[in-house]
Amino acid sequence: MPRRPPRRPDPGLDLSFHLLAQEELPEPFDPRTAFPELGPVELEVGSGKGLFLTSAAAAAAGRNFLGIEIAHGYARLTAGKLAAAAARNARMIRGDAGFIVGSLLPDACLAGMHVYFPDPWWKARHRKRRVLSEGFLAQAGRVLTTGSLLHIWTDVEEYFEEALAAAARTGLFAAPSEEAASEPRHDLDYRTHFERRTRLAGLPVWRAALERLTNAAPPRRVTASPARTSEPSAGPTPTVPAQSDRAAPPPVSDSGQ
Ligand SMILES: C[S@@+](CC[C@H](N)C(=O)[O-])C[C@H]1O[C@@H](n2cnc3c(N)ncnc32)[C@H](O)[C@@H]1O
Repeated sequence: MPRRPPRRPDPGLDLSFHLLAQEELPEPFDPRTAFPELGPVELEVGSGKGLFLTSAAAAAAGRNFLGIEIAHGYARLTAGKLAAAAARNARMIRGDAGFIVGSLLPDACLAGMHVYFPDPWWKARHRKRRVLSEGFLAQAGRVLTTGSLLHIWTDVEEYFEEALAAAARTGLFAAPSEEAASEPRHDLDYRTHFERRTRLAGLPVWRAALERLTNAAPPRRVTASPARTSEPSAGPTPTVPAQSDRAAPPPVSDSGQ
């Protein structure tokens, strides 16, 4: 089902720090050099409306956060929220996570990765568009430092089980540990917008954290040059259009977000 187009940020906001485009990134792109303050960098794949990125950046001043979002409107919306909050420890990249993780990020550059409610691509012929493929997960293991966590949350049990099985096959992650749901203290006290709407609709959420193992050898980075293009997914996952065939949960107010 098509989504409503995201709100445009205030045109008076300067997004030059907060919104990057995949095509502007060098190869390799080391995210540890992308922030004014040195600190561990965590990456969110598919930031949507940006609730995780904005809250994590506000809560953890000593850490840096990078979001990747393939849909231009959502990348700009989140960048606008970060700019409005004057966050210096979070930035958005408009681009394809498969390409950026697989082909641009150097080994062991991230202190955490977050994948919340990735598009499920229900139809059999669209399954290959799922972000959490075995190839992507192997590259996720490559770019994570040992001991750091990959968080996977979704409302689609079958995708969850499939992703955990694929992660196990890479040999790069310890057995998943379940992450507990916290009780929201206010209307936006959820990890992401999709977690909020799923829980308010009374539907289950599957959550796991997978620790990057110390003793496993990751694959190599997929070299993108010389054919760098603005097209998504020269990396290990296939081209992902910005709309999925996700069925929309029952409508729930987004509290003006
Ligand atoms: C179902 S939404 C979830 C958004 C957010 N994580 C949340 O939980 O509210 C999935 C998001 O992932 C983005 N996405 C899908 N494929 C992507 C890719 N290859 N790279 C970056 N973002 C992607 C979509 O555009 C969409 O905004």
